[in-house]
Amino acid sequence: MKNKQYLLAKRPIGTPTADNWDFVETDVKEPQDGEILVKIEYISLDPAMRGWMNDAKSYIEPVQIGEVMRAGTVGYVVKSKAEGFAEGDAVYGHFGVQQYATVSAKGVHKVDPSLAPLERYLGVLGMPGMTAYFGILDTGQPKEGETVVVSGAAGAVGSVVGQIAKIKGCRVVGIAGGKDKCDFVVNELGFDAAIDYKSQNVKKALRETCPNGVDVYFDNVGGDILDDVLTQINFKARIVICGAISQYNNTTPVKGPSNYLSLLVNRARMEGIVVFDNAKNYGIAAKEMAGWIAQGKLQAKEHVEVGIERFPEVLLMLFNGENFGKLVLKVDGE
Ligand SMILES: NC(=O)c1ccc[n+]([C@@H]2O[C@H](COP(=O)([O-])OP(=O)(O)OC[C@H]3O[C@@H](n4cnc5c(N)ncnc54)[C@H](OP(=O)(O)O)[C@@H]3O)[C@@H](O)[C@H]2O)c1
Repeated sequence: MKNKQYLLAKRPIGTPTADNWDFVETDVKEPQDGEILVKIEYISLDPAMRGWMNDAKSYIEPVQIGEVMRAGTVGYVVKSKAEGFAEGDAVYGHFGVQQYATVSAKGVHKVDPSLAPLERYLGVLGMPGMTAYFGILDTGQPKEGETVVVSGAAGAVGSVVGQIAKIKGCRVVGIAGGKDKCDFVVNELGFDAAIDYKSQNVKKALRETCPNGVDVYFDNVGGDILDDVLTQINFKARIVICGAISQYNNTTPVKGPSNYLSLLVNRARMEGIVVFDNAKNYGIAAKEMAGWIAQGKLQAKEHVEVGIERFPEVLLMLFNGENFGKLVLKVDGE
């Protein structure tokens, strides 16, 4: 049996290009004792993948040249030599950008496709959903009646953050690129207002949409938008630093906030989060969010692209703002 794989061929400078990748075909490896062979169905496309391509110190080791590109994935066990796993089990793991993975069963989690579509375990019920849940609730600590602003509002993390803040009784303003995304977060996700950072003056629009100021800002994008929000924060505001996608393809140093003294004036707090810190409590979060989905309070949206060979171009959709909700790649077309 053959296995198509994307290997990291070269580290990118700026936006990744075709020559950063090797698309190869290898033989599928037979599982040994303690291992399983998984047929991967969906690959998660995450902004963090851009960081993993750099040879830089981070919260996780970089992907090495010649290695299969790291990615969160879901699929089905096709052969098992590991206790507790059987053919046909649906599983989640970091199996990488390939069709098949032969891996140690340690660190592999079973998921239940009868409770939710498989790809949802890469979205709301997976890593982005966990990021949103713990980031907004534990670090943002939104209180009823407060104003919560979230950037990347129509994306995997942002769309969930805003909906959870609504569930908690907050006024929620999303920041997103383009009218379609702004309409989506207001009309379909129930946000109170949205700001199109591509066509509006963000600072002015914040003053209009957040007349009582900003109590919580959940930042997915960094850069100028972070600076603009800092000018509108309230006393004891909480800024959740989740990501800075506007900076990931920079060839110049990351642009830090020049308005950070607003934290001093307002006795406010800015705190970074890493989703994996909450791993032991994922089950609690998934259960509560599945409940909200069942009650119609939380909408899950996946954006599915098809064909493993398209991986390099589909990854770039994140940086071009072409995804609505959680971007996933379905490995095979049928
Ligand atoms: N800390 C953690 O543990 C953790 C975990 C997961 C994700 N994250 C971070 O969370 C953020 C969102 O991730 P996601 O998976 O939910 O991605 P996503 O929001 O689904 O997709 C990325 C979105 O970023 C926006 N974007 C791209 N370039 C931009 C720019 N220059 N300025 C402003 N917005 C830009 C685009 O939306 P528009 O069309 O609106 O521009 C794009 O759709 C990322 O920064 C990611 O690194 C952090």
